[in-house]
Amino acid sequence: MSFLIHVVDDEPIIHDILRRIFKDEEYTLEFSTNYEEAVEKHKRRRFDLVLLDLMIPGTSGLKILRELRKSDEDVKVIIMTAYATLESAVEAVELGSIDYIHKPFDNKELLEMVRSALRSDNKRGIEEIKDSLQQGQAFHNIVGASGAMRSVVEKIKKVAKTNSTVLIEGESGTGKELAARAVHMESLRSSAPFVVAYSAPDELLESNLFGHKKGSFTGATADKTGLFDVAHGGTIFFDDVATVPMSVQAKLLRVIQEREFIVVGETTVRKADVRVIAATNQNLKEMVSAGTFREDLYYRLNVVKILLPPLRERKEDIPLLVERFIEKYNSINNKSLKGITDGALKILENLSWPGNVRELENVVESGLIMSDGERIRPEDLPVELVYGEPTALPSLLKVDGTPFKDKVDLFQKSLISEALRQADGVQKRAAELLMMKATTLNEMMKRLGFMGDGKD
Ligand SMILES: Nc1ncnc2c1ncn2[C@@H]1O[C@H](COP(=O)(O)OP(=O)(O)OP(=O)(O)O)[C@@H](O)[C@H]1O
Ligand SMILES: [Mg+2]
Repeated sequence: MSFLIHVVDDEPIIHDILRRIFKDEEYTLEFSTNYEEAVEKHKRRRFDLVLLDLMIPGTSGLKILRELRKSDEDVKVIIMTAYATLESAVEAVELGSIDYIHKPFDNKELLEMVRSALRSDNKRGIEEIKDSLQQGQAFHNIVGASGAMRSVVEKIKKVAKTNSTVLIEGESGTGKELAARAVHMESLRSSAPFVVAYSAPDELLESNLFGHKKGSFTGATADKTGLFDVAHGGTIFFDDVATVPMSVQAKLLRVIQEREFIVVGETTVRKADVRVIAATNQNLKEMVSAGTFREDLYYRLNVVKILLPPLRERKEDIPLLVERFIEKYNSINNKSLKGITDGALKILENLSWPGNVRELENVVESGLIMSDGERIRPEDLPVELVYGEPTALPSLLKVDGTPFKDKVDLFQKSLISEALRQADGVQKRAAELLMMKATTLNEMMKRLGFMGDGKD
């Protein structure tokens, strides 16, 4: 008996792919490209299985799913999801679809899934499917599937339930504040405030933290509530604890140790019920040795340490982060990009990211804004990112033990980078500037290891 499969997807290319995947199978395929067409077809005949794209412009896959269920309660549905539709995918599973597959999918995997779906005995439980969907899901907005980030998340979960101070170390842009918020949100204090204490000069910081009485110093024209009062019952986060001046360090130590503080200009002590989380991108231990950070405070803060590794040490997180940022900036900028091309992703994966996740986020946002296609392409990325900075001539001319041939390659690479920059990344124009054929330039770029060739 031949099974009848209904493919609902707006992209003709997916139709072609599926036709190819199923060409040797005994299945009959029918295709719809939109909602009305799909529902119409279901009214006319019974399908054994629906392969449903959740992202069809102008409508929602969930709506289709509900409609299909109306005409055929038992029809089996496999959802084809893109990253951006995780939530709806979860809902789809709840609406009774039996499985899901991520786009772009592996042909074999899809075929296996379809076969097993049609062998009706084989059903994955809703909970199991939901679990595996959630695995790619962020923990309080922390995206990352690398071993390093998974252990960060584990650690956050463990310390959250305690009242212990936490020291978060990591380079700029690695997500220290995000981690601190996650600790707070997972803690029993989550319904009380999370407040951030940013760096400020001595007196200002002191009055920011502890508050002041009107008239306690010039400029104190009214009473001011300090952050330790505001955060009562909650968490206070020191964004860059290395910048807290010595004079305030002593007072900070006292709040942590004695759980009390004095408002500037007052004499009575107040109780502080606040958890302290501190972040730094400097080596506090070295500062202790140098005498610029109090040793006792360092030990008080460093009860539990969470280390956020730099992005270059967890490049496997880049695709997930990129997906997340595309999703985020799609909605902020009213765009509907479906993702990033392999070429552009490869470029991002090859960079060293001194500004870490923050820098990646900015690059993805700008790529998304520049793109007028369906995906972020290499040419949408900042030119200097794609082609690298040219090497300065004096350093090229240094006789430093580099083989002659490598020096010549470097020189060619620099020259091409410069031409590409002048040509805004358009290879054809860069070739004109260099007075060479575009095909020659392209070959040289491949040979010299320029990443991304502007194609998918
Ligand atoms: N693992 C992550 N998943 C998703 N977004 C992240 C992640 N890490 C960082 N970000 C994003 O990167 C940006 C910078 O993060 P955050 O402010 O937490 O970094 P930071 O370590 O505090 O930086 P700085 O040292 O400069 O203060 C934020 O927009 C944050 O949402
Ligand atoms: Mg920060």
